[in-house]
Amino acid sequence: MPTRMNAIIGLGLLIPSVAATNSPLQTRLDDGLALTPQMGWNTYNHYNCFPNEAIVRSNAQALVDLGLDSLGYRTVTIDCGWSVADRLADGSLTWNETLFPSGFPKIGQYLHDLELLFGVYGDSGIKLCGSPPDNVGSLDHEEQDAKTFAEWEADSLKYDNCYSDEATNFPNVNYQPSTSPQPRFEIMSRALQAQDRPMLFQVCEWGIDFPANWAPALGHSWRIGNDIIPAWRAIFRTLNQAVPQTSYAGPGQWPDLDMLMVGNGVFSQAEEQTHFSLWAILKSPLTIGAALKDDTTAISKGSLQVLTNEDVIAFNQDKLGVSASLRRRWSDEGFEVWSGPLEGGKTVAAVINWRNESRDLTLDLPDVGLQSAGVLRDVWGEAMERGVRTSYTARVEGHGTMLVELDETTPAGEYSTALFGRKNGQGTSFQSIYALTTSANYGITINFAQPVSSATNITLRTSASKQTYSTEIPASAHQVTLQAPLIAGSNNTITVWHHQTAIDSVQVTPPNGTYYPGAKFILHGDAKQVTCGEGFCQPVGSKIGNLAANSTAHAVIAASSSGSKYVELDYINNEVALDSAWGWGANSRNLTLAVNGGLPVRLEVPLSGRHSELFGPGQGWWDTGSLGVLTSGWKDGENEVVIGNVGGEKGFQALAPDFVGMRIYD
Ligand code: GLA
Repeated sequence: MPTRMNAIIGLGLLIPSVAATNSPLQTRLDDGLALTPQMGWNTYNHYNCFPNEAIVRSNAQALVDLGLDSLGYRTVTIDCGWSVADRLADGSLTWNETLFPSGFPKIGQYLHDLELLFGVYGDSGIKLCGSPPDNVGSLDHEEQDAKTFAEWEADSLKYDNCYSDEATNFPNVNYQPSTSPQPRFEIMSRALQAQDRPMLFQVCEWGIDFPANWAPALGHSWRIGNDIIPAWRAIFRTLNQAVPQTSYAGPGQWPDLDMLMVGNGVFSQAEEQTHFSLWAILKSPLTIGAALKDDTTAISKGSLQVLTNEDVIAFNQDKLGVSASLRRRWSDEGFEVWSGPLEGGKTVAAVINWRNESRDLTLDLPDVGLQSAGVLRDVWGEAMERGVRTSYTARVEGHGTMLVELDETTPAGEYSTALFGRKNGQGTSFQSIYALTTSANYGITINFAQPVSSATNITLRTSASKQTYSTEIPASAHQVTLQAPLIAGSNNTITVWHHQTAIDSVQVTPPNGTYYPGAKFILHGDAKQVTCGEGFCQPVGSKIGNLAANSTAHAVIAASSSGSKYVELDYINNEVALDSAWGWGANSRNLTLAVNGGLPVRLEVPLSGRHSELFGPGQGWWDTGSLGVLTSGWKDGENEVVIGNVGGEKGFQALAPDFVGMRIYD
């Protein structure tokens, strides 16, 4: 099980990414369930807490009639509203007989006869969510209820967190309880395991106590955040919350981004594609939340096309079970790149167009750790391209996503003569050379097809300068490395002259960069330096907090050439949108970086916390995240760098994330 999704693989291969988690995967329930994310249908997103038997039966039948069952959508879950206020005389739970006249066991049987699975819904508090009308919860009745669910032949339990905080007299929700929900979920987990029927357990405590750290030991999936709302902004908010926990996904343990809104008439088709693509590649359970068919409704053809896309489902159900992670985000330009590995050495990548206008977007393969792809399949664009070198550009609809599968790939930085080289007079020139940053310090290694027979000279030039670079190669050398400049972008050329021996490939290694800890910056306004607990706020041990809109951190940073430089920003944000999730909460904060008084580059950073915002070390405000941006305006010599929160006062969050430090690739 890879615990570091974004490892830097091999010499000089730099994959810009959010810092990998330092939390190894926790022990998990190893019962063979949910080896790939569970798929199904649930009443809640469309019918709210008003399910009934006719609704369940007609939608279950539709799963079969529409062929959704054979694509994997099999678990039918009856969410809130199914139960009653009181238990039976023997203390057991029962269904609402008016709404479900045939009763739960019969409905379970009906689903099983359709070869579907029966999902039930309960709550770890005294009442179910959505009460009133009061529906009794499972608190203090866990064993009896688990037994009842097993008797009804349930196949899964979604277990919620309403009316659960005793210390505050059981309010509907308390997002900041004084004790963790974890023990209540543990009791139910044990009760389920004691039954002689395997039941998949879905932990639904809305991400309040960072369940990624404990839920895998108790169940098969955990809700990462508060409920999805029927608004486009819920997608950005959810993805920002997923960022720091993508590495916790794996067979039997899935971060649940919540049920799908596809088909509920709230999104355009492009938006539905984005929603579905990202849920799929982040390995979220895929639970349809739309009315497939009832007395008045039938799902639209367009939405059905989204939900039945077999490529996207295959990414979700890929046996490797590794989630995609966020690689790059361009906040000013409004797009971002996610990617992750698939079985058989393939890669999936997604470029989200956050702007609501159709435009051409480019995926630079090095942003996902690759240099070329023998085959690229563009899923929504319905295109296939062979021999893709360095970049792929396609039209992406407003709020849409370019979703591609890359196969027969080579790692970033490696340019074979066969793919990238071209005979050029007395030499060979290599095209489509990618540079993350503008720098004179690239290492360019020339690998010969065979050892050179006698000592000789070699000369190269890059498109970044008129200058030539030469060195002597001793006899029998296999390779030689020179230092040369490249300009940030994907269109550099390297030309090598006077080589008697054929060149097999060229390897380009970016500079390592120099780290500037936040502790060395000079603070203005309200900004304050904060010391963190031992081993936290990596790699510095402290951070700059309270970066309000009028507050900044300044440093003078030397560069060895002018141009655009790639800067990796280490930040901390654990402002988890819980209450605000119903409104405009986005799980993000705004950070700006300006060089030499130029226009600031803005980065809307996602969450970085990998510990509980209630009880974890530093409340999760000591866990560093990392994202890179390209910044322009650098001069050869000293540069004035200002970290701040320009425009922050106009955003949802007036504060920037805390700033740990930055690495400049020069
Ligand atoms: C909570 C859950 C939702 C849904 C509702 C029902 O909010 O997170 O998924 O089950 O309760 O009221």
